[in-house]
Amino acid sequence: MRLDKLLVELNIGTRSEVKTLLKKGLILVDGESCTKPETKVDENNVEIIYKGQSYSYKRFHYFVMNKPKGVITATEDKKDTTVMDLFYRQFPKGPKGLSPVGRLDKDTTGLLLITNDGALAHEMLSPKKHVDKTYFVTMDGELRDCDVEALEKGVHIGEGEDTAEAKVSYEGGNTCYITIHEGRFHQVKRMFFAVGRQVLELKRTAFGPLVLDEEELPVGKIKELSHFNALKY
Ligand code: URA
Repeated sequence: MRLDKLLVELNIGTRSEVKTLLKKGLILVDGESCTKPETKVDENNVEIIYKGQSYSYKRFHYFVMNKPKGVITATEDKKDTTVMDLFYRQFPKGPKGLSPVGRLDKDTTGLLLITNDGALAHEMLSPKKHVDKTYFVTMDGELRDCDVEALEKGVHIGEGEDTAEAKVSYEGGNTCYITIHEGRFHQVKRMFFAVGRQVLELKRTAFGPLVLDEEELPVGKIKELSHFNALKY
């Protein structure tokens, strides 16, 4: 890759800014000052130092967010704050071209994966891959045994086929966990509605191999994952 392109991808500056930095000899490439923007470098093996900070190139980035209520799962919106607005508030110099994988409703909290790895996003969302998503549900009443059975077996949610098989962990009271592997619009809320319950709060606690650890990642926080391998599926 051309050196100037790499420096732009590393968010060191715009194309013209990095050219100026190079001309001034402010960029060290493998320990030596390099002034030629067109220099070819191996982006996976080169060490770039600028202002004493070392930069390494990563083609793919993976972040997890504990999504708060009141923000929408989109890259941009005229009216509402989006998860990507929150992302760039926490990582102003963060990589460009990221998108949330899948969608949580505006009032849903919990685990959201954000990446620029389109192939992985596609795998995680593909209905054929059956990637599990677990939600902690707070509802307006209790479930009967027959409700749990119906939710697990599949219910009619107003259109299309019945929902696919799911797993419910219910120990009484107004809360439970449900694990589904589809991703239909408002699916969990509509499933509970189908058995006569209203979902009051919804939090995603797991998505594929990712599990929400709320001590490490309180609501609203985002962290970068060093490595994420979807090929497990
Ligand atoms: N199901 C819902 O109803 N809402 C979500 O945000 C996610 C799953």
